Order: sequence, then structure tokens, then C-alpha cells
Amino acid sequence: MNRPPLQRFTLNDLRAARAHGHKVPMLTCYDYTSAKLMHEAGVPMLLVGDSAANVLLGHTSTIPIQLDFLIELTAAVRRGAPNCLVMGDMPFGSTHASVEQGVMNVVRMVQLSGCDCVKIEVAEDHAPLVKRLADAGVAVVAHLGLRPQSVGVLGGYKAQGRSAAAAMAIVSAAMNMQASGAAAVLLEAVPPIVSECVAQSLDIPVIGCGAGPACDAHVVVAHDLFKLTSSQPKFVPDLGSLGPAVKQILSRYVDEVAAGRYPATEHNYEMPPAERDAFTSARKGG
Ligand code: KIV
Repeated sequence: MNRPPLQRFTLNDLRAARAHGHKVPMLTCYDYTSAKLMHEAGVPMLLVGDSAANVLLGHTSTIPIQLDFLIELTAAVRRGAPNCLVMGDMPFGSTHASVEQGVMNVVRMVQLSGCDCVKIEVAEDHAPLVKRLADAGVAVVAHLGLRPQSVGVLGGYKAQGRSAAAAMAIVSAAMNMQASGAAAVLLEAVPPIVSECVAQSLDIPVIGCGAGPACDAHVVVAHDLFKLTSSQPKFVPDLGSLGPAVKQILSRYVDEVAAGRYPATEHNYEMPPAERDAFTSARKGG
């Protein structure tokens, strides 16, 4: 489907969407080519998530991914999608040692990648960092609910906020982040009643990832959307599968090379005839 070219999408557009009840689609993205396609398809917001650790690098958790690597990916996405709102992701360990370390690493991410905002998986003690960054003019998205970097303490990749007390804790953490200056909240894997309460309690936009319909924007991992991963979380919509089409092209390529049909004449770079003749006689020692 042809869509009009995407106008520059900013945090103000996300705020306006929230005010008007318009829902905003968002996808993860990790490279220039996909960013260009997503930009052309009209996806207004892209998250260069640390889920790159899983879908690009094959790790079983997001813990091993390095800040420098994520900065490179984020800069590539920025180049591919100049009008999208590009969200950089702060990886495990990059904001935990101190406020100073967090500020320094976020400044590197913003300066070197050109992202519009940064996402941080937050605990309560991130409030001073969020405030320092907000005072410095950095838009921070506070990631709550399932925080994959905390898989050790959460005891696995499980939905969060499923008891009344846990739900209240998420609502109060979200309010704390807003009070500290967060520009938006991202809620991952929480029941709809929890995101609804967060959305009603806050003035800032709420981005959901498996968090029900009340959220203002919805993000899923692109590799899950395309069904390139071996299994997908239940909240990923079923919109088709790229896997079979890609496999078909790959197996045809294998057949073409094995059968000697590729490369054919039309794939060759030729020499000008005079150079070809000169080369042929040189080879013969003439
Ligand atoms: O890294 C990521 O892709 C994320 C989303 C799942 C929200 O944090």
C-alpha cells in the first residue's frame, strides 16, 4: 500500500496522538535498510532495542550487548529513517554505577547516534538520573513492567504486575518517573488493567509492549512481527510470515549455483573487445 511520505514525527506528535486518542505504531529496528523500509511504510517510531542481543547476536538474554554496538546500530537506523522518532536503548550496566556514569553514557548515545530519546529500564533509584537527564534536555523513556535486563531478579521472562501489590508498585513507579521528568513510560508485559491505570494516572504518553489497548503507542520486536524468530510472544499480531519466502529464495539460490545456472551471461562483467583480445594474446605469451 502506498502511503504519503512520513512527516518528521516527534515527541510532540506522540503527545498530540495521546491527547486525541490516536494510537501510534512502533517497531524495533536495528539496521539502515530495514529503517528505510519502515520509514517508507509509515512506521513513525523506531526502537533500536537491546533485543538486538537476541535477534541479531543470538544471545539468550539482553545482558551481553555493549553500548558501543547499540550506538552504531542506532546511528544506522537514524540514517535510514530521518523522519522517524528514533529511540536509543541503554544496555545493561550502562546506567547503574552512578548518576555520572549514566549521564556520560546517555550523552554518548545521543551525540553519536542522533537518536531523539533514550529508553532506560528503570528501578526506583534511577529517579535522580532521569531528573538530571531531563534537566539537561534529554527525553527519557522509563521502561517498567517486564525489564529483561533484570531477568535475574524477576526470575524469568514473565508478565509483571499480576498481583494487586505488584500492579500498584508499577503504577507508583510510573508516577515517580513522570515526577522525575521522564518524557514517556514504556510498559512491557503487564495486564491491560495495569496499563489502563498507568495511562489514567499520567500526563505523559504510555508506550505498550504486550500491555493492552489503553497504551498510546504499541511496540513489538520486528523479527517477531515478521515471524523470523522461532516463537513469538502471544501479543504479537499475526500479519503474515517472511520466513517461508526468505527460505524459498535461499533454496532457489542454492539450486541455481549447484546446477551451474548461476552466474549466467547476463551476470558477467565483460572487457571491451580490444582489451579482451590483448589479454588473450598476453596469456598465450604472444
Ligand atoms: O529491546 C527491546 O526490543 C525492548 C522492547 C521489547 C520494548 O525493550
